[in-house]
Amino acid sequence: MQPPARAHGFVTKTIHWLSAGLLAYGYFKGLNNVRQLNQPGLLEFEVIFALALGALFLVRLLWTKYVAGHTRLPQDAPKWEHVASRAVQVGLYASVFGIVLSGLGIALGFVTPMLDGLFMDAMLALHDVTLFALPVFLGVHIFGALWHKIVRRDGVLESMTGRLPI
Ligand code: HEM
Repeated sequence: MQPPARAHGFVTKTIHWLSAGLLAYGYFKGLNNVRQLNQPGLLEFEVIFALALGALFLVRLLWTKYVAGHTRLPQDAPKWEHVASRAVQVGLYASVFGIVLSGLGIALGFVTPMLDGLFMDAMLALHDVTLFALPVFLGVHIFGALWHKIVRRDGVLESMTGRLPI
């Protein structure tokens, strides 16, 4: 029997759960339409929030790629698990960067009348698509974490959560 997966480090875990919290907050307080950006201070807040979220995910990507290592999936796990895990991670990063960049694009379009029209429509469409895609990838990500907990019992979930009571 394989030893349980090695735990992710403190920095990786902190970034992981901090970004989960920020995304949950972003969805919770999200705007319903562009006109709300007329409210005083809201445009500035949205831009700062988008920049902070984007920076956190960029740091996270570089940190896991070059310093801490991306995955604790056991080397001898089936090929399909490696492929699925990689694909979902790429989907998560792509959705978040898509949300951030299109959000910044919307803010730019909002303050630049010349960009109203095709540019603004494209940014709004990209924002909608990526806002829809992220929860789908997250659902599969959480399903995968539970798969490792219940079916594989290989410690991959605990590598990110720490020891669990069950
Ligand atoms: C907004 C929520 C979440 C996002 C955006 C997210 C994203 C990610 C990403 C991109 C990774 C790959 C490592 C990295 O780049 O940091 C990862 C790893 C991981 N996540 Fe999440 N995650 C979220 C929520 C959750 C939840 C709720 C769970 C548990 C139910 C979970 C369990 C894990 C586990 C176990 C790993 C390590 C997988 C491995 O070592 O291969 N994540 N997460």
